[in-house]
Amino acid sequence: MRVHVADHPLIAQKVTVLRDERTPSPQFRQLTAELVSLLTYEATRGIRTEKVAVTTPVGPAEGIALSHPRPLIVPILRAGLGMLQGITDLLPTAEVGFLGIKRDEETLVPHTYANRLPDDLTGRQVYIIDPMLATGGTLIDSIAYVLERGATEVTCICLIGAPEGVAAVEAAVGDANVTIVLGALDSHLNEKGYIVPGLGDAGDRLFGTAN
Ligand code: URA
Repeated sequence: MRVHVADHPLIAQKVTVLRDERTPSPQFRQLTAELVSLLTYEATRGIRTEKVAVTTPVGPAEGIALSHPRPLIVPILRAGLGMLQGITDLLPTAEVGFLGIKRDEETLVPHTYANRLPDDLTGRQVYIIDPMLATGGTLIDSIAYVLERGATEVTCICLIGAPEGVAAVEAAVGDANVTIVLGALDSHLNEKGYIVPGLGDAGDRLFGTAN
């Protein structure tokens, strides 16, 4: 498994404002979209392309287009929905599937309540988006769902990760072709499974306090 922690001042600045407890939801959503676009740029260096020919007003030119089958983006509901715009802005032709996974706040064990993925993902590149890589349980289940459908390459884009979660995902995925792209790697998890210092509950910060 590869882990890439973005190292760019624009990303660090946006993460800083997201962390700030005074940042209101509308600004938090806007910044999340911008940050996800920057992380998508980093995460898609290996996206499959094919050569195409176009004609400019001056003459023929060689270019590239995204290959078929199209990449699949999988937001993890609910907080991953807040990242969807930022990635689809850069990958407008990608297909979107959905996973609804909620962790039990006592046991921290994830529970899948919705699975809307294509049955066959043979050979597909998949981008899973979830803001917080905390214990890793949600990502481990999500990666397993797409690998068992035949995906060959999985990239997880998260705003902030904890070392415990990264280690858990690494132990679970074995030799699978998995990359994790993070906007920041924080210190640790607290006793409630929150990332420290993190940014609090990403879903609440994005969407208010509705459950
Ligand atoms: N989920 C969140 O929203 N925040 C955390 O810190 C951990 C999990």
